[in-house]
Amino acid sequence: MEQRLSKKVMILTGAGQIGMAIARRIGSGMKIVIGDKNIGNAHAIARTMNQAGFDTIPLEMDLSSRDSILHLIAEAQRYGNISMLVNAAGVSPSQASVETILKVDLYGTAVLLEEVGKVICPGGSGVTISSQSGHRMPALTAEQDEQLAMTPLLNLELLQPGNIKDTLHAYQMAKRCNVKRVMAEAVKWGAKGARINSISPGIIVTPLAIDEFNGPRGDFYRNMFAKCPARRPGTADEIPHVAELLMGGKGAFITGADFLIDGGATASYFYGPLKPHDSKEKTSQTIENGRQSTK
Ligand SMILES: NC(=O)c1ccc[n+]([C@@H]2O[C@H](COP(=O)([O-])OP(=O)(O)OC[C@H]3O[C@@H](n4cnc5c(N)ncnc54)[C@H](O)[C@@H]3O)[C@@H](O)[C@H]2O)c1
Repeated sequence: MEQRLSKKVMILTGAGQIGMAIARRIGSGMKIVIGDKNIGNAHAIARTMNQAGFDTIPLEMDLSSRDSILHLIAEAQRYGNISMLVNAAGVSPSQASVETILKVDLYGTAVLLEEVGKVICPGGSGVTISSQSGHRMPALTAEQDEQLAMTPLLNLELLQPGNIKDTLHAYQMAKRCNVKRVMAEAVKWGAKGARINSISPGIIVTPLAIDEFNGPRGDFYRNMFAKCPARRPGTADEIPHVAELLMGGKGAFITGADFLIDGGATASYFYGPLKPHDSKEKTSQTIENGRQSTK
């Protein structure tokens, strides 16, 4: 195989707005290999970034497939050692079935962290995008948390169809799993001198979020923006402020951690006007709460 070793390499999975914003903030001078199931998205982001002076290459890949992940890693290694991972691929509750959400957001993310962790170079770092959604789900048992952190996942009893109520529940479980998985992987990445963290955004305006606004939970989100401390959704360019800290030298003591960036929506959900029993939004949020309390 042709070798073109020279640059540090970043793998970016998910050619969406959040992924591009992070890659633009920290990817100058690197070879950025952009993997996405929708190759059109990968080409579009690659073109935009190349025209802004970045060095990117688009590649079709499916996060739900270990073979596809391994192919992406092998392609990336043709350009040099992998020193950064940005995982911003995923599907939302309004975009996909329970099965797809579990395969992509939960299982695929776990496999990606595991496989990149095997080849990440010393001093390397990674970030995966989880969600505020995982923070709203009630606590699981210590045993369930450990299963999400450390086992092969899809055969787990708590993920079987009868135990997952709907796509929102699947998404929350996937995002909770991301955070637990990052903790367990941080131990393995640490043995290689590398770090891995997660970021849990609130609602950030992207194509994925716009599908949510136009989906069955649209009113729920509009109410959230009206009642959260920031009084608005976030923008993709606000996420790299934290990613830059986590992935650079100033973040050297941070690994296995998760960072909530949600304009205070989660705080308000637990202790403010977004609390389900407190206010007029009771109807829509009680539905959410009812789903959660039975999980
Ligand atoms: N936008 C938000 O409000 C928000 C909030 C919290 C978390 N997130 C998370 O952020 C991440 C990025 O989402 P975004 O908002 O930038 O969305 P986006 O729609 O801009 O980008 C997501 C990308 O993931 C790709 N993708 C979907 N399934 C894939 C698969 N199986 N393999 C490879 N690529 C796949 C899509 O084609 C798309 O290009 C997701 O994990 C999402 O759950 C988003």
